[in-house]
Amino acid sequence: MNFTKNSISSHRKTLNYLFYSIKQDELAKFKHLLKAAKQVVVLSGAGISAESGVPTFRGPDGLWRKLDPSMLANPASFRDDPGLVWEFYHYRRELVLRAKPNAGHIAVAEYEKRHAHDKLVTVITQNVDGLHTQAGTKNLIELHGNIFKTRCTKCNEVLENTDSPICPALAGTGSPKCDKLTSDIREKDLPHCKKPDCGGLLRPHVVWFGETIDFRLFEKFDVVISQCNVALVIGTSSIVYPAAAFPTILSASGSIVAEFNIEKQSPTSRKFDFYFQGPSAVTLPQALND
Ligand code: OAD
Ligand code: ZN
Repeated sequence: MNFTKNSISSHRKTLNYLFYSIKQDELAKFKHLLKAAKQVVVLSGAGISAESGVPTFRGPDGLWRKLDPSMLANPASFRDDPGLVWEFYHYRRELVLRAKPNAGHIAVAEYEKRHAHDKLVTVITQNVDGLHTQAGTKNLIELHGNIFKTRCTKCNEVLENTDSPICPALAGTGSPKCDKLTSDIREKDLPHCKKPDCGGLLRPHVVWFGETIDFRLFEKFDVVISQCNVALVIGTSSIVYPAAAFPTILSASGSIVAEFNIEKQSPTSRKFDFYFQGPSAVTLPQALND
């Protein structure tokens, strides 16, 4: 047999897929419950986008120039050095612009589409990468906002923006390899509101540490969570609130909760009804095909 580099990598992929093939008896039980569900909630975190090449926050590539995201994604850092915070978001925007939804995002979107007439599927994501939308998910709550939206710090206008780069001064900046912890970019060269009577500095439309989630979403969560029959909790470390509390609240309000995570379940981790270990791009298509 003649192994080329590509064929070796494709064999390796197949082996990975076999390795992660989830336990069939558990899977059958889960699918049986899912089939009967009228309302399904999908709660996703950074892990669902890992196989699209977007680094998770608490994984090995989670640091940017030795800083963890909470040191950049907060209002005080933006006040002190908006250039540095914009460099970080510029880096992530460019990375995500090149990323494509993976089989996990697609399985979720196709499930919603197939069941448009017999189930209400709601996706609540902590991710700001827009990959659920790109995959075709319609009923989506972006809990932490979206990096392809800007918000004016003066007039609060929110606009979609996928420009690459978002402004000329950010071109070629934001490399995580460089170790500079201040930015040379002047504030006047960062993105600004185009309204003639405003001109305020723009910021990414994402929820930062120390900020609260739009209170109108909470009314929506109450309804969605209280009526949910089956919840899929995918690729989240469940550290950041309020999302971290959702699985427990869902379970307490009578929903079946199934976790999907690449990590082995630790003896101290939360125990819900199901735990499917493996990359979600492998486990979700198996769990959501009818
Ligand atoms: P984390 O980086 O904290 O956790 C990612 C989770 O995904 C971990 O539990 C991993 O084990 C799991 N994981 C990694 N690769 C996976 C794969 N291929 N398949 C399945 N699971 C995988 O990310 P989040 O929990 O999303 O907030 O982090 C929550 C929030 O913290 C983020 O939204 C962000 C961050 O700071 C803000 O920016 C406000
Ligand atoms: Zn403005």
